[in-house]
Amino acid sequence: MAEPLRVALAGLGTVGAGVIRLVEANAALIERRAGRPIRITAVSARDRTRDRGVDISRYAWEDDMTVMSERGDVDLVVELVGGSDGPALSLARKTLGAGKGLVTANKAMIAHHGMELAALAEQNGAPLRFEASVAGGIPVIKGLREGVAANRVERIYGILNGTCNYILSTMEDTGRDFAEVLAEAQAKGYAEADPTFDIEGTDAAHKLSILSAIAFGSTIDFASVETSGISRILAADIAQADALGYVIRLIGMAEADDEGLFQRVQAHLVPFDNLLAHVDGPTNAVVVEGNFSGRLLFQGAGAGDGPTASAVVADIIDIARGMDTGFEADRAFSIPVAGLEAMAVADSGTRQSRAYIRFMVADGRACWPRSPPQCVMPGFRSKA
Ligand SMILES: NC(=O)c1ccc[n+]([C@@H]2O[C@H](COP(=O)([O-])OP(=O)(O)OC[C@H]3O[C@@H](n4cnc5c(N)ncnc54)[C@H](OP(=O)(O)O)[C@@H]3O)[C@@H](O)[C@H]2O)c1
Repeated sequence: MAEPLRVALAGLGTVGAGVIRLVEANAALIERRAGRPIRITAVSARDRTRDRGVDISRYAWEDDMTVMSERGDVDLVVELVGGSDGPALSLARKTLGAGKGLVTANKAMIAHHGMELAALAEQNGAPLRFEASVAGGIPVIKGLREGVAANRVERIYGILNGTCNYILSTMEDTGRDFAEVLAEAQAKGYAEADPTFDIEGTDAAHKLSILSAIAFGSTIDFASVETSGISRILAADIAQADALGYVIRLIGMAEADDEGLFQRVQAHLVPFDNLLAHVDGPTNAVVVEGNFSGRLLFQGAGAGDGPTASAVVADIIDIARGMDTGFEADRAFSIPVAGLEAMAVADSGTRQSRAYIRFMVADGRACWPRSPPQCVMPGFRSKA
């Protein structure tokens, strides 16, 4: 029997509790696939007494999650706390610095510090995995790192934020306005109490910048993602789009060409006959266009305890499988960090697309708005 992979779990919220449930429910199957048992040895969160619907009494408890990688009974740390900096980043640095593996679902941390963490992983022969950081349960990072590894990826785009997609498709189905649907999404748990990162496009931009790096072999460039959200879209825009043959979706799109890297998150008009027009509710979908693979569509649950835990545990299994050979040449971003290219940022002003512009004008006044248009949505371009 191979030695178990001993795992410390930082964060016992939606995803952390989901990981415990999954590791327990599928233990025998996971062991057969991983080639060794996966054993959770230590856990950490803020409140030790909180009922999480899972029994954590059999695991050692750490009040300070940043010390978990120092434990002798831990080979791998799973970070499910969140936040681009703070304790999550301290834990990640210490874990990789100690030559131990790190699995995280934290897109904000990877978008801001992914290059540093991947370099640290390489220097210390430690594996770094972050499948759950993009599109929840959809194995799109594996798809890019492995499935299309032989391709020059020309374009990648899709619906990367389930909260926005839920809001837009509910506005479409019910004719209700943004604020009302946002409140309902919060009540149902599809939107955070502070929804800013989701509805202003930041969350999708984090994910897009991670996908771009893997797809194009570039260093992560979150700062250059042109980002806007959906908070100024009105029910009237949805109705007008429908009359023109479109739905409105928040699309993240990245292209790499002679001009450089172009990354944008913006609400788009998507024609009814496009696959992405039929992605409703909190679902995510990512389209990858490779020069030999052609167009690939990855679609599924972009969030939730089960799907996200599925991606996290897949990463753990991946690491368990690699333990016998080691991680000296591990490539979290498909190409070693030194080989990733810092690409020029393509000028969005030179890119052509069709746009929808709404003007609010007062009756009886000249037909020119006194304030800028509230919402500009370039037409969705498709090579199909
Ligand atoms: N939820 C999803 O569907 C989803 C999908 C994809 C990726 N993610 C990512 O997964 C990560 C976790 O998300 P989540 O939804 O599970 O979050 P969550 O439900 O808010 O859980 C966060 C956990 O972290 C703990 N925590 C927070 N600050 C801490 C600190 N300073 N020290 C120790 N523990 C701390 C909390 O402890 P207490 O429980 O004691 O308060 C809680 O257990 C985030 O990076 C998120 O972006 C989530």
